[in-house]
Amino acid sequence: MAKIYAVGVGPGDPELITRKAERVLRTAKVICTPTGQADAASYALSIVKGIVNPLTQEIITQLFPMSKDESLLEEFWQKAADEVLTRVDAGLDVAFITIGDPLLYSTFLYIYRILRAKRPDVPIEIIPGISCINAAAAAAGIPLGMAGERIAILPATYADAELRQTLLDFDTIVLMKVSRVFDRVYAMLEELGLEKSGAFIRRVGSEQEEVVVDLASLAGKKLDYLSMLIIRK
Ligand SMILES: C[S@@+](CC[C@H](N)C(=O)[O-])C[C@H]1O[C@@H](n2cnc3c(N)ncnc32)[C@H](O)[C@@H]1O
Repeated sequence: MAKIYAVGVGPGDPELITRKAERVLRTAKVICTPTGQADAASYALSIVKGIVNPLTQEIITQLFPMSKDESLLEEFWQKAADEVLTRVDAGLDVAFITIGDPLLYSTFLYIYRILRAKRPDVPIEIIPGISCINAAAAAAGIPLGMAGERIAILPATYADAELRQTLLDFDTIVLMKVSRVFDRVYAMLEELGLEKSGAFIRRVGSEQEEVVVDLASLAGKKLDYLSMLIIRK
């Protein structure tokens, strides 16, 4: 039986793609990029452009609407899962590519749930990738955790009270999806005296990679969706 692969393609640098991911991406007949962000989809594809071949492989970009309407999203996820199952039933291996690692805040996880429920007989192999967190910590030279320290990873879009408590409770705090809420987060960092204790990392591993430690310089700016903050006390 054909197989479904969830393939983490790393944060941007093609040298950070694992050998296993490369092998699967060369041999799978169908490559899928399910995503809620058109920009992120093309980013994932750009990472593997030297590996996949649109002449011999079917490349499907599955775009999902930016919506909080669960039932609308469910419709799109179901459709995406069906597209995959049609190929698998035709005997074709399907590889989903996701930025970083497939099990860390990835759109694949919604489809994974549907696939497992609909067709528990279809084998799914998950190939881990180097997450943007590991790559961003490396680019900024910031240790994520030593000895008994506590590390928190969360979307920066959390409400103020929870975000403040997390910043107080943990030693290293990784804030994903920070672009649209940066000014609010920066104000909180200032309030807690942490505004000089971290780095903003954008498009790590790509040619546009940027590491900014002067967080004040970012206030009021339109920031890239593919960016994060690492705060280290
Ligand atoms: C949907 S999550 C994807 C995480 C991904 N699965 C991983 O393991 O790295 C998207 C968020 O990850 C972060 N991100 C993803 N790729 C990034 C990159 N190359 N540089 C900086 N941040 C990135 C941003 O915070 C972005 O809003």
